[in-house]
Amino acid sequence: MIKAVVKGVAHAVPNKILTNADLEKLVDTSDEWIMQRTGMRERRICEPHETTATLATEAAKKVLAKTETSPTEIDLIVVGSVTGDYMFPSVSCIVQNAIGAKKAGAMDVGAACAGFIYSVATAAAFIESGSLKKVLVIGADALTKYVDWTDRSTCILFGDGAGAMLLEAAPGSDHGVIKTVMLADGAGAPLIDVEVGGNRYPVGSPQAEGRRTKIFMAGSEVYRFAVKSIGDACCRVLDLAGISSDDVDLFVPHQANLRIIESAAERLHLPSEKVFVNVEKFGNTSAASIPIALSDAESTGKLTKGMTVLTVGFGAGLVWGANLIRW
Ligand code: ACO
Repeated sequence: MIKAVVKGVAHAVPNKILTNADLEKLVDTSDEWIMQRTGMRERRICEPHETTATLATEAAKKVLAKTETSPTEIDLIVVGSVTGDYMFPSVSCIVQNAIGAKKAGAMDVGAACAGFIYSVATAAAFIESGSLKKVLVIGADALTKYVDWTDRSTCILFGDGAGAMLLEAAPGSDHGVIKTVMLADGAGAPLIDVEVGGNRYPVGSPQAEGRRTKIFMAGSEVYRFAVKSIGDACCRVLDLAGISSDDVDLFVPHQANLRIIESAAERLHLPSEKVFVNVEKFGNTSAASIPIALSDAESTGKLTKGMTVLTVGFGAGLVWGANLIRW
């Protein structure tokens, strides 16, 4: 059987830091409230010239350099993102050109904060089927460009960034993507959205008048959904693989809220030393959060070759899913 093995992972974030103290100057909030309710201390924010595609390109270049891979070896670029530079073309096409991946196909996957989970699952399926050998998988978002900086319930949550992973075909390997799970419930669509910008309420159209141009989120409903969906997706992917949470060496969940992560870890009976958290540094970077966390975990020595890693994501859609990977 052909496995999709991780050759490397890297990430890129903007230099500009937005701290809780900065947010105290914008809205009626406090460092104490933000830390207690979310675990976030600071996040990285794009300058106007920085975009989802520039961050994705930087992360892609880093992973190619790290794995000593030529861009012309890449067969496909899959970018999980809901904040493309344009309605079209896709972020993946911009990255394809910027890195010189002349032989690669390119496509975006729109699954919000589960975008990286869905993108890895897509890439792994192409590799396991034998049709592709090297796929560059990227999670990238710049949600702060859609933040309402007067809404204290959402503006504290989001940061920008990108993470890139190179997956490669390895026949007979016992490393790589083990199992994936992708789930959705479109009935929950109104819980997190940006109304204007698509073709239901086109920018500047009469239909868009009075509609929201910034992120709306029903926080406590999404919180309840997140706690349940993370646990469900993890249990399902572990069942499919025929292993238990005791066999997981590192849990790398979407970094949306420390309390959500802790309750998922509790349900899975995972001790804190097996749970990777960096939400305090980057906030919720949407599709970028899992690859940024994997890259951060690896560079700090917490993620090493041979480990069984459980990743899980959830977000607007509603969508959720999990990937089990042997590093
Ligand atoms: N500072 C101070 N007070 C605040 C702030 C703030 N920044 N934000 C809200 N409050 C207040 C509220 O107004 C409310 O006050 P009230 O009781 O007087 O009405 C009180 O704090 C409690 O509000 P809740 O919304 O119940 O707070 P909660 O504990 O649920 O935390 C949070 C809010 C952090 C947003 C939480 O609900 C959450 O994390 N939700 C999930 C978010 C998420 O994971 N999203 C992922 C998907 S995003 C995507 O896919 C794009």
